[in-house]
Amino acid sequence: MMTPVNLPAEIHFGRGIRSRLIQALPPGPVLFIAGKHSRKRIEEEVIPRLEEREFRLFCGVSPEPPLEEVEQARELGREIGAVSVVGWGGGSAIDVAKSVAVLLPCPGTVADYFYGRRTIPGKGAFFAALPTTAGTGAELTANAVLRDPATDVKQSLRGGDMLADIALIDPDLVRDCPPDVIAGSGFDALTQAIESFLSRKATPVSRLLAGQAAEKLLFHLQNAFEGNLEELDFVTEGSMLGAAAFGQSGLGAVHGLAHPIGSILHVPHGVCCAILLPEVLRWNLPAARDAFTELAGQLGCASPEELIDRIESLRKMLQLPENFRRYGLEARHHAFILANCRSGSMKCNPRELSDAEVSELLERVS
Ligand SMILES: [Fe+2]
Repeated sequence: MMTPVNLPAEIHFGRGIRSRLIQALPPGPVLFIAGKHSRKRIEEEVIPRLEEREFRLFCGVSPEPPLEEVEQARELGREIGAVSVVGWGGGSAIDVAKSVAVLLPCPGTVADYFYGRRTIPGKGAFFAALPTTAGTGAELTANAVLRDPATDVKQSLRGGDMLADIALIDPDLVRDCPPDVIAGSGFDALTQAIESFLSRKATPVSRLLAGQAAEKLLFHLQNAFEGNLEELDFVTEGSMLGAAAFGQSGLGAVHGLAHPIGSILHVPHGVCCAILLPEVLRWNLPAARDAFTELAGQLGCASPEELIDRIESLRKMLQLPENFRRYGLEARHHAFILANCRSGSMKCNPRELSDAEVSELLERVS
C-alpha cells in the first residue's frame, strides 16, 4: 500500500531563495528562533524589512536543545501574540521553532507533550524553516528532537501537524558553515539517505528520493568539505532529498542508537552517525542484501561491501572518528543506551537487534 507523502506545503530550493521569507509570512507578530551564528544575518537582512511588524528574536539555541529553551521561546512568542514562528539555523534551532510553533496555543508544559502526558491537538502558529546546515533535514520533517537534561532522555516530540508551512532551503546560508560542521551534518544526511533506502518502511517514492540523495552526498561531500562551495549546493540538495525520503520511510538502527549515545556522552549527532553507520550496515547486510545491492549499483559500487568501504574512506577523508574512544563509551553506558534506543527508528531497521546484539555492536565501536 502506498502511504501519502508527508512534506511541507511549500518547499523552495535555491541560492537567494531566503528573500521570499517576509512575503510568505501571514500578517501579525513574528517570533524568530535562531542559532547563534545567524543573528547578524537576520538583523541585517530580515529585520529592516519587517517595517512596523512586531517581532522577537530568540537567539543561541543549544545543541540537543533542552525542554527549557522551548519553554522560554514559547513565552517570548506569547508575549507578542506571535502568529508565525521562523526557525533559522541548524537542526536544533529548527526543532525548537517547530516545537514552539505547534505548542504556542497549547496548555500545560512542554514536558507534558514530550513525555506523552498530553497530546498535541493539531496545528499551531504558521511555521517557516530556513536551514543553515546541510544535514539534519529538520526543515522537512514532522518531529522535533529535544532533550530533558533532568533525565538525559533525548527523543522526538511528535503529534498534531508539525510540518513547516514553508521551507526555504538556500545553499547560500550553508556556505557560512565551518568545514567540521559540513562534515558532520553531511554525514548525518548521508546516513539518513542510506537508512531510508534500507528501511523496512521504504516505498518506491522514498527509495527514489533516498537514492538520489545518497548519490549527491557521496559524490560531493568531500569536495564541499575541502572548500569547493559550488559542490556544497549539491550537498544541500542531497540533504533536502534525503529528508524528504526519511520523512516517509523512517530511519534505522544508526539513528535509534545515536540519540541515547549523543545524549549521555554529548557526541555531536553527525559524529555518532559517522561512527555507527559502517558497523550497522555490516550487521544489516544479510537481511537487506537485495536493496543494498541496488543502492550500491546506483552509487557506482560493485557490491554492498565495496559501498561500505567507500563510506569508511569518506569518513576518514572528512576527518571524522571511527569509534567513541575519545568520548569514553564504556560498558556502564550500555544499560542507558539499551533502555532508550527502542524508538521508531529502531523499528525501521531491516534486521532486528536483541539487547545482547546491541551491546556487542557497541563494543565494536567503543
Ligand atoms: Fe540524523
